[in-house]
Amino acid sequence: MGEFPNVTVVTHPLVQHKLTLLRDRRTPTAQFRLLAREISLLMAYEVTRVLPLEDVTIETPLEAMSAPRLVGKKLCFVSILRAGNGILDGMLDLVPSARVGHIGLYRDPATLMPVEYYVKLPDDVSQRLAVVVDPMLATAHSACAAVVRLKQAGVTQISFTCLIAAPEGLRVFAAEHPDVPLFTAAIDRCLDEHGYIRPGLGDAGDRLYGTR
Ligand code: PRP
Ligand code: URA
Repeated sequence: MGEFPNVTVVTHPLVQHKLTLLRDRRTPTAQFRLLAREISLLMAYEVTRVLPLEDVTIETPLEAMSAPRLVGKKLCFVSILRAGNGILDGMLDLVPSARVGHIGLYRDPATLMPVEYYVKLPDDVSQRLAVVVDPMLATAHSACAAVVRLKQAGVTQISFTCLIAAPEGLRVFAAEHPDVPLFTAAIDRCLDEHGYIRPGLGDAGDRLYGTR
């Protein structure tokens, strides 16, 4: 709450412990990938709290009962390539039937503006809750571009999930998309002059895939 009313910081001790391991520069690529997957499964538990339920009648081995079940068209995870894929699989571990969309963006290192190179969304994405996933929200330009894409596709229910957010980016995101709730495991101190989150974890894509 406080300055960022649309932001939920997931403070669960397992999330916080695993995030500390993820940040550590000594954590090797294979463990980094595993930790990102584990944390994102736990984040998905919070993000999916809003899914609506309906009561259905079932028979237990002993008697009939009315019991809750998820209703209607469900989720679509939308991964911002490429680092988004690092937290996609953990979410799919929890919701294996979810549909998946991909939006390919990279940050131009000079302007810090996102460059789009790929978009593939399910045909019925507008009837689903779209959960956009990307481990890092720095300037928020990538997150905003992905949300704009989804709104253009007719999606009305959108949330955004990351692992680490910068306060500067959260302000931009809240101003441009006040209707989109955001979930993060941490709000860090600031952005540096290169647009990196401090203290952060470095370049998420490079750490996930060992490219630097
Ligand atoms: C990283 C990260 C976000 C973006 C965040 O991706 O995964 O998509 O930067 O920065 P922003 O909030 O300032 O837009 P990057 O551009 O490094 O591409 P990659 O995932 O392909 O490595
Ligand atoms: N993208 C990253 O991967 N890390 C940052 O700190 C900022 C943007």
